[in-house]
Amino acid sequence: MIYLPANDESIVKAAGIISGGGLVAFPTETVYGLGANAYDAKALAKVFEAKGRPRFDPLIIHIAAIETLESVAALSLLSADARKKLFLLAENLMPGPLSIVLPKNEKIPGIATAGLPTAAIRFPDHDVAQKLISLAGGAVAAPSANPFGSLSPTRAEHVRDKLGDKVDMILDGGPARIGLESTVLDISNDDIRILRPGGTPKEAIEKVIGFKLCPQQKTQTFGSESDQQTPLPSPQSLVPNPQVSPGQLKSHYAPKTPLFVVDREKIIKQPYKTGCAFLFFDDFTANEWLKAQKHTEKAAVRVLSGAGNALEAASKLFETLHELDSGNYERIFAQFAPPDGLGEAINDRLTRASC
Ligand code: TXA
Ligand code: MG
Repeated sequence: MIYLPANDESIVKAAGIISGGGLVAFPTETVYGLGANAYDAKALAKVFEAKGRPRFDPLIIHIAAIETLESVAALSLLSADARKKLFLLAENLMPGPLSIVLPKNEKIPGIATAGLPTAAIRFPDHDVAQKLISLAGGAVAAPSANPFGSLSPTRAEHVRDKLGDKVDMILDGGPARIGLESTVLDISNDDIRILRPGGTPKEAIEKVIGFKLCPQQKTQTFGSESDQQTPLPSPQSLVPNPQVSPGQLKSHYAPKTPLFVVDREKIIKQPYKTGCAFLFFDDFTANEWLKAQKHTEKAAVRVLSGAGNALEAASKLFETLHELDSGNYERIFAQFAPPDGLGEAINDRLTRASC
């Protein structure tokens, strides 16, 4: 495995590897992606292999120019109204942390979309990602560069530690700016909806399209070890349902350490116990908790954003969970974020990371 800091020379090398059918982990503004040529079915099979990802979980196709939408999507299959919305969204929110589900172009192999007639398309807002995608032929399929179901990588080191030699090359572009995956928005039919909350807040999308979105679909509970009552559906039963986005699985993005997530009032009352770590949203709550405790000298206390800024908190979430997860704690208690803006995506990931 080649591990290099991202610069013009290493990006050219990485593009050569992707064009030759290999796998490259690369930085984006959300999390690191595990990229392969989106038109190369064999290379895409390697992505599923490296991640241990079920074949029924479709990949996001990354592009580096709005014009490439024509090559990866079948825009003629969209209604005039959906096309209008797409171009409004593209004009206002691309590049950025938004993946739009559209009818797929026949040039994209079925394995990329897990047999679905749709593909999620994203134009990342990151120089390294854009250069790499352009040089590698314009369309790179990339899931987050982590083993399936575990925490997403916000640093190149996370990819190296978790995937190592399963990838041909890792481009190190430093820590991810947003630190949470993109919002997945389905506009492939008239029932426009968010399949996964993420780096683009719902409010920003509503402002562009001019109306309120329906509340997010209820969480899918299959795949959750904590919910043994719910039988696992067969992979076949998932394929025809384009609404099922495995980012919606109840248990996903999970650390190994048991994590409990509670609201502000409850975490303040949670007594300190040796071996437990506490993850607060802001200093205000952390200080109130500290005041209420007797012995906290050895307490592992982390705060996502001292001032309670959701953008800062989002960018630190996975990073802090990675750090706490390697600290051998018995359990982690975490505080929910205020639910508006990016808080929705933060709470979504905390809930899925919890037991
Ligand atoms: O920010 C991101 O989105 C990162 C970076 C690397 O771009 N990528 C990412 O990919 O998070 P992944 O594969 O870990 O998550 C993609 C999500 C999955 O929940 C998948 O099911 C959903 O997008 N998805 C992809 N194509 C879809 C489709 N055609 N219909 C419904 N959901 C889809
Ligand atoms: Mg992922």
